[in-house]
Amino acid sequence: MDERIESRIEELISQLTLDEKISMIHGNGLFRTGGVPRLGIPCLKTSDGPMGVRAEFEDDSWKNTGTTDDFVTYIPSNSAIASTWNQELAYQAGEVLGEEARGRGKDMILAPGINIMRSPLCGRNFEYMSEDPYLISEMAPALIEGIQSKDVSACVKHFACNNQETGRLKVDTDLSERALREIYLPGFYSAVKKGKSLSIMGAYNQLRGEFACESTYLLKEILRKEWNYDGVIVSDWGGVHHTKKAAESALDLDMSVSCDFDNYCMAEPLKKAVKAGEIKECFLDEKIRNVLRLMFRLHMLDGEERQAGSYNTFEHQRTVLDVAREAVILLKNEEGRLPIQKKGLKRIAVIGQNAEMVHSNGGGSAEIKALYEISPLMGIKKLLGGNTEVLYAKGYDIPSKEAFSDINWQESSLSEGLEAAEQKKELFEKNKKQEYESREQARIKKEALYEEAVKLAASVDEVIFVGGLNHDHDVEGKDRETMDLPYDQEHLIQGVLGANPNTVIVMVSGSPVTMTSFSEKAKAMVWSSYNGMQGGTALAEVLFGEVNPSGKLPVTIPKKLSDSPAHKNGTFGEEDHVFYKEGIFTGYRYYDTYQVEPLFAFGHGLSYTTFELGQMWVDKEEKEEDVAVGISILIKNTGDREGAEVIQIYVSDQQKDRGCPKKVLRAFEKVNLQAGEEKVVTFHLTKEAFSYYKEEKQMFAAEKGDYEILIGFASDDIKKIEKMTLGNDYYYRY
Ligand code: BGC
Repeated sequence: MDERIESRIEELISQLTLDEKISMIHGNGLFRTGGVPRLGIPCLKTSDGPMGVRAEFEDDSWKNTGTTDDFVTYIPSNSAIASTWNQELAYQAGEVLGEEARGRGKDMILAPGINIMRSPLCGRNFEYMSEDPYLISEMAPALIEGIQSKDVSACVKHFACNNQETGRLKVDTDLSERALREIYLPGFYSAVKKGKSLSIMGAYNQLRGEFACESTYLLKEILRKEWNYDGVIVSDWGGVHHTKKAAESALDLDMSVSCDFDNYCMAEPLKKAVKAGEIKECFLDEKIRNVLRLMFRLHMLDGEERQAGSYNTFEHQRTVLDVAREAVILLKNEEGRLPIQKKGLKRIAVIGQNAEMVHSNGGGSAEIKALYEISPLMGIKKLLGGNTEVLYAKGYDIPSKEAFSDINWQESSLSEGLEAAEQKKELFEKNKKQEYESREQARIKKEALYEEAVKLAASVDEVIFVGGLNHDHDVEGKDRETMDLPYDQEHLIQGVLGANPNTVIVMVSGSPVTMTSFSEKAKAMVWSSYNGMQGGTALAEVLFGEVNPSGKLPVTIPKKLSDSPAHKNGTFGEEDHVFYKEGIFTGYRYYDTYQVEPLFAFGHGLSYTTFELGQMWVDKEEKEEDVAVGISILIKNTGDREGAEVIQIYVSDQQKDRGCPKKVLRAFEKVNLQAGEEKVVTFHLTKEAFSYYKEEKQMFAAEKGDYEILIGFASDDIKKIEKMTLGNDYYYRY
């Protein structure tokens, strides 16, 4: 705590009137609070979101200003950033986001999203990082530090257990304390402790009967008391429902979607309650303290020098290309199908509408106005440089969204009340479906597109199929109904593969999709999340071997939805109440422990070169308060080209009665090596790497007993196992 700042804060608070205090703690514009000009306190300007700074809205209506000065750099989605397993790149992506936010005059960027990918169906998976809390705990802080190095606050979201979109405004989530502590909170803990996120956004949902944005347990007990958080807690837009509860819960800013700003819970209603003596003014002072502290930290007060930002710089575009390159994941590569040799290549077919889709303008609040977006098709054409004929067939047809474009989903989904919003949503869906389905024309078109694609595939040597999802499916406000690919793509892919077995399958998607019907037949498969404005460039570079792929799956791709733990064991997608019955067995923790073989495992991703792990040295020192395990391991690039591999370290608790998963990721490092090069990489594990949450003690516990340290290149590709024993018990809280 900086004493000078704290005393200046008290000085300012003593000068504020009740009205001024109120104006500083709620939305006074759709994306800003009110300021106090007479004391030099500006308003706090926020903007979405994780993939870039969102287009400008009018201050008091959900209309885009329609200006041409708010185009921005489109940054790979959080799921793409996580796929790099490269903290340095996450930091650089954060720097871009922070600098662009500053460049656009914002103080707080509403990102990153770090909720656990609990189900393949969650509409916002693309905005999130992983199914694994450790990977999130490593990647999110780097991103946050990057953002905040630019005098901009990150706002990590949505705290906590916002793992589905269905009924998101009210659904009540319940889960064991162990699952909460082991799976759903660590990412947030790391974001505020390690990443020092200056603000955090509450979630829409309820947790055990309390709305997350007003939750005494989440906000007051955990965030403020246990974690000593002194940053700003922001509500999700429309996440506050009760004035007294919110005001007393430790929430600092009440943001919402309606333009009736005075009627926000923490506006006039709060003022009245304070005046009536129902809520103590000291609660307001605490909020103001946090808001002013944030402003001091961002150098917004007392005429301090603040960094200037910039947007759409060439440097930003280069950085997002670097990130995109490492985010592409090579899932399968039999017979060395990839990379495709461009020399002498006369004709190539690109099939599938995702080849020409741009995605940056969709997804919900993460949508942006990208300065440009290189589609896969453009990336491929750009790379081939006109010497190869690139023949494109759409293959499938995405129903046009135009009929719905006059509706602002965000405004209507929240401001009209829950029921109206739900009804309206249903009606949209129904109309949309009917409109499309009733058109016989569409069917004919579908058949014609299929025929065209299959015929084309048969006529060329090389085919690249680019399919997957888009932001009609990976979208805020609704979950997918099935894990299956939309637009009958499986049928199409089978047809294309039948016509040309050499077809390379590329999936652009923010969430796992069903691929079992063609994954065996396909010789080569590539995975890309929404990968930023240079996504198409990066993809083409990987396909044609200019870049050696090094992305790793941050999420398991199951064979079928019913294999997934949230669906098999728990409940998902209920409107009112969900219980996470699968507990701590999310993602690979479940597939591994219960021996359910996934299609592609967590941490999986291939390279065009090969790596081997060699000699390994392990030492352990146990002290009373902690254990220190040092692991040094030799890694060698045994192939004939430069490449990067991620060494993944999992720990397996051998004591069955502790109910631990078969193994848990505890450390990783991405290593880049020239052909033939070798290197020793060292890891340090402490008690956290051996711990689980022990409910009886309400503490994390790393207890005496036998452990295995598993080292490999994916959760299902373990190369080395080292046995280890802990001689002491360690109990701790955080
Ligand atoms: C979303 C948030 C977003 C906010 C502001 C909400 O609908 O859940 O993630 O930051 O809107 O646009």
